[in-house]
Amino acid sequence: MLISTSFLSSKNLVQDLRKLDQTDTDFIHMDVMDGKFVKNKTMPFKEMRNIYKYTSKRLDVHLMVQNPEKYILDYASLNTEYIVIHLELDVDIEKNLKLIKSCGIQCGLAIRPDTEIKEIVPYLPLLDVILVMSVEPGAGGQAFLRKTESKIKELRVLLKEYHSHAKISVDGGITDLTKGYCSESDILVSGSYIINSNDFQTRINNLR
Ligand code: DX5
Ligand code: ZN
Repeated sequence: MLISTSFLSSKNLVQDLRKLDQTDTDFIHMDVMDGKFVKNKTMPFKEMRNIYKYTSKRLDVHLMVQNPEKYILDYASLNTEYIVIHLELDVDIEKNLKLIKSCGIQCGLAIRPDTEIKEIVPYLPLLDVILVMSVEPGAGGQAFLRKTESKIKELRVLLKEYHSHAKISVDGGITDLTKGYCSESDILVSGSYIINSNDFQTRINNLR
């Protein structure tokens, strides 16, 4: 299982990023919120970009923003593996996915808990990752929604049917107690379970 660690709940970002850099986390999950698509707002790009000073890990960027086109080129300029936008947006999704691809970066779609899995079908040929939200996007530290388990299974079947190589990533409320509901996924995104501990590596090991 690949692990992507979210620093959204960090209270000491520099120290936590340095500590994470010493672990074997596969990615750093970067949550970007604009105060419109979700209520909360994260720091602006000119501050966010500085995290390269504290970690050499590849970034897994989760854009929870209304207008991703304004963010993609900035975040593509970092040490970025994936950029994920939301399926529920009122924008040209295909155009945005192609913009991410044109930067040589893998692209993905995130789906909110109430959005049906089958809505991603038209985009499958373009997708490298699908981020299944197991909490409502907008904040760390929420409880895992049990209905996610069947959504992951449904998505696995769909990916086989359409011969898609896309990875399944699950985001929100992931702990040693909830990871079992995500056994058919490829990547677990975990924030507070890892960050609110004094031994990041042990927590990561517990999730693999
Ligand atoms: C929620 C974010 C998640 C969140 C995960 O909107 O997309 O990435 O930070 O944090 P935990 O693991 O605390 O739910
Ligand atoms: Zn996220």
